[in-house]
Amino acid sequence: MKAFSTVSFGLTLVVLVNYICLCYGDLRIGYYQGKCPSNRTDVEQIVKRSISAQFGLDATVVPALLRLQFHDCFVRGCDASILLDGPKSEKNAPPNLTVRGYDVIDKAKADVEQSCPGIVSCSDIIIMAAREAVVLGGGQYFDVMTGRRDGLYSIASQAVNLLPAAEISVTDSIALFASLGIDVPDMVTLIGSHTVGVSHCSAFQDRLYNYNNTGKADPTMDRGLLNSLKGTCPQNATNDNLANLDQNPLSFNIVDNSFFMQIQNNKGVIGIDQEINQDKRTNVTVHLLANDNVIFNAQFAAALVKLGAVNVLLDPLGEIRTLCRSTNDAPAPPPSRR
Ligand code: HEM
Repeated sequence: MKAFSTVSFGLTLVVLVNYICLCYGDLRIGYYQGKCPSNRTDVEQIVKRSISAQFGLDATVVPALLRLQFHDCFVRGCDASILLDGPKSEKNAPPNLTVRGYDVIDKAKADVEQSCPGIVSCSDIIIMAAREAVVLGGGQYFDVMTGRRDGLYSIASQAVNLLPAAEISVTDSIALFASLGIDVPDMVTLIGSHTVGVSHCSAFQDRLYNYNNTGKADPTMDRGLLNSLKGTCPQNATNDNLANLDQNPLSFNIVDNSFFMQIQNNKGVIGIDQEINQDKRTNVTVHLLANDNVIFNAQFAAALVKLGAVNVLLDPLGEIRTLCRSTNDAPAPPPSRR
């Protein structure tokens, strides 16, 4: 009798869970197919065209969009909370002050709204845009899942607490990524996004002049790189200059495994980039990816898909924003004084 009631309780639970899952939306490939007023509308194609056009004007949209996905997904999940305007919203938190690409997403959203109004979330547009960035940067095409909804809240202090600082240790980084369900190989692979883009001197200045308060440079940094970065980032400079994250001059703007080869040669610019090559928990993956660009492409795509699934909001949670910078029920702006 006891066995029977346990079994029937289990079955009821399975039925209930299934029922709940059917009530909710889902995250899947091709979620928007057939959802727009015209069946012929292909939302992913619209985003692709929009991002390609903007890439034609400024190729640095590639790193901008990759970093945007990371900073969105790490705070409240991939819910486009980073896009919300407001004095105390995430985008105004110090770790996000160098994040770019908001206007690129606005344009893609406007393009999508023209033929599919009120249907496509800003959080999905960030994910589709990052995929296009990978392809435009020379990486591999991959399918992305869609069906996310947009969050209603954006809180600067959460961005401060959850986004990693340049000098984070490997141990803390592993714990941070693990808290979001991302394992060590995927963490290392995702840091491989530093195959494109730039860093401000302020993010690695300590490695040049006062590593761990020693008054000296980081001894693990390649001497040639150290001298060149000292030239870009003089000790008492008033400008916060930029350095390429991938030190291969032929590949600094290409999505490939060259970053991993560079860090194997002690040419990592940001502290964490170099440390994943020194630490035995992470250098196995560094080695694997540095040796094979085909493996890198496949692993990188898979890791971005996992990042894109972090704490997503599914129907009926959240909303579909009309403008990515404000929630639909945000108070109307004050009337103009004209
Ligand atoms: C522990 C992990 C990470 C740390 C500490 C870190 C830190 C940083 C820092 C300090 C910069 C330079 C920002 C600036 O000075 O403007 C940067 C840039 C960048 N990060 Fe990361 N990052 C991490 C992981 C990631 C991940 C997982 C991604 C993507 C999935 C990513 C993508 C990028 C990109 C593409 C840039 C270049 C941005 C541009 O050129 O505008 N990073 N990161």
